[in-house]
Amino acid sequence: MQSVEALEKEAASVIETAATTSELRDAEIKYLGKSGLLTGLMRNIGQLPPEEKPLFGKKVNEAKARLEEVLEARMGHLKRGEQSSQFEAERIDITMPSRKAAVGMEHILRRTEERIRNVFIGLGFEYFEGPELEEFRYNFDALNYPPDHPAMDEQDTFYVDDRRLLRTQCTAIQGRVFENHKPPLRFFTVGRTYRNEAVDRTHSHTFHQVDAFMIDEGISMANLKGTLGAFAKAMFGDEVKIRFRPDFFPFVEPGVDYAISTPKLFNGRWVELGGAGLIHPNILEAYGIDSERYSGFAFGLGVERIPMMQYGIDDLRHFLENDLRFLEQFQG
Ligand code: FA5
Repeated sequence: MQSVEALEKEAASVIETAATTSELRDAEIKYLGKSGLLTGLMRNIGQLPPEEKPLFGKKVNEAKARLEEVLEARMGHLKRGEQSSQFEAERIDITMPSRKAAVGMEHILRRTEERIRNVFIGLGFEYFEGPELEEFRYNFDALNYPPDHPAMDEQDTFYVDDRRLLRTQCTAIQGRVFENHKPPLRFFTVGRTYRNEAVDRTHSHTFHQVDAFMIDEGISMANLKGTLGAFAKAMFGDEVKIRFRPDFFPFVEPGVDYAISTPKLFNGRWVELGGAGLIHPNILEAYGIDSERYSGFAFGLGVERIPMMQYGIDDLRHFLENDLRFLEQFQG
């Protein structure tokens, strides 16, 4: 039978030289486990003379306790080593550039609308919203279109039934405001409009307009020019020039078209933004506004034309196509 001392020495050396935690576990089973060698020595105790038995038991237990301590120390050492090599293998390079998160942004037309709103609110106009699915009477009758007037043909649109259509112009808000408000009035809207139109670089079936009007005592073309001049400067900078030329719209008299030119873009060429004029007295009277006392101006502009001028975009269809290569250019 191997002596307790010899077995302890052997076990200690195996434990201390174990290279991995799994080798160490094997050693634990071999020497200290339930059917391990050290426990095996205890089984021989019966063969000893009675006086030696307690001493032998004590020796084996003490050897076991010492070996357990050695084992625990070795286990701690190996675990730390294995952990740090695992960390090394799973190391993360925190200096690596991160993947850029895709952040959404507002469409350039939404941003333009927002800028327009800020300018008109700054000029003291109140924002008003009308429906896109509009009644014929607000889109045409209330705006002084005589029945079957050819001007309506210029604005053919999508009819939903005999009474309702997709509005062709944001000027349709006028009647809705006049029904519930008395002068002085200063209102504007920005919204979507529709026309049955052949699509080309500057025309679409679906587009946006900003429409505004002001009614008070003594309003003249000078007020209109001042307002549209201030608007043009706010949107395009101080170098911008504005131009009025006579034009016809049933709801204004006189009527003009409104164009701007800036040296930075399109070689200073004039670009028409919309129509304007003094509100026709027939309309004021139809809503019980005394046209001897009150007068007003009104204008309606195409929203798409504004970023087209600002960024030199030559085709309005880009706004509707949702091609990210186009839209992403307007970040920041
Ligand atoms: C009007 O719509 C009038 N309601 C404007 C107005 C208001 C005049 C108040 C007087 C007083 P016009 O049809 O010209 O007018 O359209 C105004 C602007 O909308 C045009 O100058 C253009 O910039 C834009 N626009 C018109 N049709 C289209 C279209 N199919 N696609 C893109 N923009 C358009």
